[in-house]
Amino acid sequence: MKPIEIAKDIYWVGAVDWNIRDFHGYSTDSGTTYNAYLIMDEKVTLIDTVKKEFVDELISMISQIIDPKKIDYVISNHTEMDHSGGLPRVMHKIGEDKPLYCSKMGVKNLSRHFQQKWNYQPVQDGGELSLGKKTLSFLETRMLHWPDSMFTYVKEDRVLFSSDAFGQHYAGPERFDDEIGGTIMPHAMKYFANILLLYSPLILKLVDRVKKLGLPIDMICPDHGIMWRKNPAKIINAYVEWATQKPRKKAVVVYDTMWHSTKKMAEAIVAGLSEEGVQAVPMHLRSWHRSDVITAILDAGAVIVGSPTLNNGLFPTVSDFLTYMKGLKPKNKIAAAFGSYGWSGEAVKLINKQLEEMKFELVDPGLKMQYVPDDQGIDACYQLGKKIGRALK
Ligand code: FEO
Repeated sequence: MKPIEIAKDIYWVGAVDWNIRDFHGYSTDSGTTYNAYLIMDEKVTLIDTVKKEFVDELISMISQIIDPKKIDYVISNHTEMDHSGGLPRVMHKIGEDKPLYCSKMGVKNLSRHFQQKWNYQPVQDGGELSLGKKTLSFLETRMLHWPDSMFTYVKEDRVLFSSDAFGQHYAGPERFDDEIGGTIMPHAMKYFANILLLYSPLILKLVDRVKKLGLPIDMICPDHGIMWRKNPAKIINAYVEWATQKPRKKAVVVYDTMWHSTKKMAEAIVAGLSEEGVQAVPMHLRSWHRSDVITAILDAGAVIVGSPTLNNGLFPTVSDFLTYMKGLKPKNKIAAAFGSYGWSGEAVKLINKQLEEMKFELVDPGLKMQYVPDDQGIDACYQLGKKIGRALK
């Protein structure tokens, strides 16, 4: 691959991971990229590295611009291994004594990750670093999404290097928003739902803070996916909308099934919701990946969870999904539970307990049916769908 000059003397030198399909439990059906950036100035500066397996590509990209030994500074915006994994090779190549700038938490995290005594230069929130013609300014973004996370802003070019924020897991020939258009937004939404959702309150505060600082932004360069140069405000506004979590008239019926009874219940509930004008979809957990289900839930007003009772408990995929959803802390949802059972029937009670712990508003005590729902049972499911639909209005 060839480096791309994204602004005067600023280059994209990242790597494209076409084949990754599982990113720590998140299904990356379109692969991803690990974006790194090289600034050519009196002090040549590398911003972030790539996943360890792609470091040869990073070094090859840099070498097409300059001998990597001539890099003066390295900035680490984020210590997670998909951006820091290449650091040991890079530091070895450019000189272990070269200054490595990161947040205070970055120093701690990098030391724990790599056990190296690099020349760490912790930066302050709002601190600046002159590279010659260009000036970097640092913005700590703690817990967006790790304690070490920070942004780096190039004042003269109005370019924001935003680490994971505003990224997408997408590998393609495009590098910029104007090259791909609106089709990137579902990838950005999925990324938000699976990586950043639980930090929604912090995102709203950060956007406010950036607005108050009055930082003009011509381009946002995240560490994954395409860069936003045509309309950076589009992704900022989308983040505000997603972080606000205003419920739409939309319901997700997420379930698993053993002998199709819970499936029949799910589909009857969906029919009742649709009758009330609610956009509803049944999502079978062995047909839909948990990361796609949580994306669908992001802007839904209702979450209805179904599980058969298996060995006095929940079906394993339903437990998995509830654990995943609980960690991501979606807000402003109404909810209900359902499921079929043979003789003990604990599933509905167990789902209700978890939904309450997530602070979802239960609009019904839940519906359980023994063995196979008959016509009356299917109608009860349909009526439950209608009841939830009316509650969403
Ligand atoms: Fe892309 Fe938090 O790493």
